[in-house]
Amino acid sequence: MKDDGARLSGDDLTLAYDKRVIAQGLDVAVPDRSFTVIVGPNACGKSTTLRALARVLKPAAGTVLLDGERIGSWPAKKLARTLGLLPQSSIAPEGITVADLVARGRYPHQGLLRQWSREDERVVGEAMAATGVAELADWFVDELSGGQRQRVWIAMALAQQTPILLLDEPTTYLDIAHQIEILDLCADLHEAGRTVVAVLHDLNHAARYATHLIAMRDGRIVAEGPPGDVVTAALVEEVFGLPCQVIECPETGTPLVIPAARHRAPVG
Ligand SMILES: Nc1ncnc2c1ncn2[C@@H]1O[C@H](COP(=O)(O)OP(=O)(O)OP(=O)(O)O)[C@@H](O)[C@H]1O
Ligand SMILES: [Mg+2]
Repeated sequence: MKDDGARLSGDDLTLAYDKRVIAQGLDVAVPDRSFTVIVGPNACGKSTTLRALARVLKPAAGTVLLDGERIGSWPAKKLARTLGLLPQSSIAPEGITVADLVARGRYPHQGLLRQWSREDERVVGEAMAATGVAELADWFVDELSGGQRQRVWIAMALAQQTPILLLDEPTTYLDIAHQIEILDLCADLHEAGRTVVAVLHDLNHAARYATHLIAMRDGRIVAEGPPGDVVTAALVEEVFGLPCQVIECPETGTPLVIPAARHRAPVG
């Protein structure tokens, strides 16, 4: 059992869909105020783990704890004010505009006595500006490109203003400039005190941005810690079966993974 006092952790989790077990005896702790990145091959259980941490999937065994309480016992709205999840794929209600979808992120902050406010308007505006979708406010979500849509979903998660944010492949569909923009935004949120957990496929981005890196394979955590310790050629080979070199990024000094070439260029 991990007892490092993390706000969010899973202890001895069995994660399964019906009878199909994806992970067993999984201990996972998200260090408070970290930018935690989860990497691993397709189908190794990254999204499943994130879903369990967000209470979208109920573990078949084990416990997810949030602030020392079983996450299952948290009232829904209180949970939605504390923890936000951007799922790997989301489907917007038909005929909804960008502004209306992002505004749904404010729902957990409303109640019988507290209806739509100026504060909500401001937060929604800021979330759209931060993700570069402000000019799309009146567009229908169905009319957007994959990358635009992805940024709208991120805006909705931001508008929820939760201290803990779980993002499943937030950079999917984005061009390289927008990928960096979103990762920089995540880094800003982290620096401002939020706990950010993201699943990423790009190991170089993971190594550059994570303060805590978790490498998974077959429903298990193979290695975790600072990227400089975790990302080695041996680890990449073990987790992905990919021969590579790991060099130092000239820009950030973090590990940079260079996959081995199929045919090496002749010397000289
Ligand atoms: N709703 C579901 N019902 C049944 N099996 C599922 C379901 N969702 C995922 N699985 C299975 O669980 C395993 C882990 O899936 P998961 O989505 O967690 O992988 P992942 O690591 O996020 O992969 P990717 O990188 O492709 O997103 C896979 O074998 C997948 O087929
Ligand atoms: Mg996934």
